[in-house]
Amino acid sequence: MAGRAGTDPGTAGDAVVARAIDLTKTYGDADARVTALDHVDVDFARGEMTAIMGPSGSGKSTLMHCMAGLDAPTSGRVVVEGLEVSSMSQRQLTKLRRDQIGFIFQSFNLVPTLTAEENILLPLQIAKRPIDRAWFDKVVDVVGLRPRLKHRPSQLSGGQQQRVACARAIMARPSVIFADEPTGNLDSRSSREVLGFLKDSVHDYGQTIVMVTHDPRAASYADRVLVLADGRIIRDLKHPTYDRILAEFATEGDAGDAAGTKARADA
Ligand SMILES: Nc1ncnc2c1ncn2[C@@H]1O[C@H](COP(=O)(O)OP(=O)(O)O)[C@@H](O)[C@H]1O
Ligand SMILES: [Mg+2]
Repeated sequence: MAGRAGTDPGTAGDAVVARAIDLTKTYGDADARVTALDHVDVDFARGEMTAIMGPSGSGKSTLMHCMAGLDAPTSGRVVVEGLEVSSMSQRQLTKLRRDQIGFIFQSFNLVPTLTAEENILLPLQIAKRPIDRAWFDKVVDVVGLRPRLKHRPSQLSGGQQQRVACARAIMARPSVIFADEPTGNLDSRSSREVLGFLKDSVHDYGQTIVMVTHDPRAASYADRVLVLADGRIIRDLKHPTYDRILAEFATEGDAGDAAGTKARADA
């Protein structure tokens, strides 16, 4: 287990926050088996924003869910901050998700009966953790929610709701935030605001973010872009420009399928 700092992958303080080792996830039984993740090996570096792209059904959400302890892998390991997620009990998983992991969903997942402020603070209250008011104020100002704190989700636009979800995720200062198509339901202006905030949190506070997106423009905010196809990582681009990402998808047909076909042809 963790302890030998520097040798064990993902020990707190290491450059690697989260790691998948030979991660495989299959659904269904023998005659209807779907391989959602096919022996995936990947490291996520501290203080980096990684975008995950790929066609629909390529395993992006499954990877996020397995990394975040929301779904159990069929084989292989997930390590977050030196802790073996893949062998945790439900109780340990709950604690891990509370203390170490933030998750942002496409559909915001706010509690409709609570105000924006109450939603942002809810995870800390459930965990009975003290609320750092200075940090709360900073986060609220960065996401521009100060005038909306007493509003309920139904009184907020989609972009504002997702900024509440971002604030909620970052409030606990998790080791890593996983975001599954966080701008998938947003117009382009709200997308830019949410992406700008996520990117700022990486550069200003060293937040680590792994974000699924279909949008090359959104992916261009990231320090690194991974492309999945058929449950495998087929591309790993460091600091790609928008043009470079577009070029990956430059063939006709569905953007993601084009990437998969191109990569296989290149291989
Ligand atoms: N709960 C499930 N039961 C059965 N098959 C699933 C389930 N979740 C995902 N899959 C299948 O696993 C594959 C990967 O899905 P997913 O990770 O959601 O892809 P993506 O997020 O890239 O669209 C798909 O073929 C999908 O149909
Ligand atoms: Mg998905």
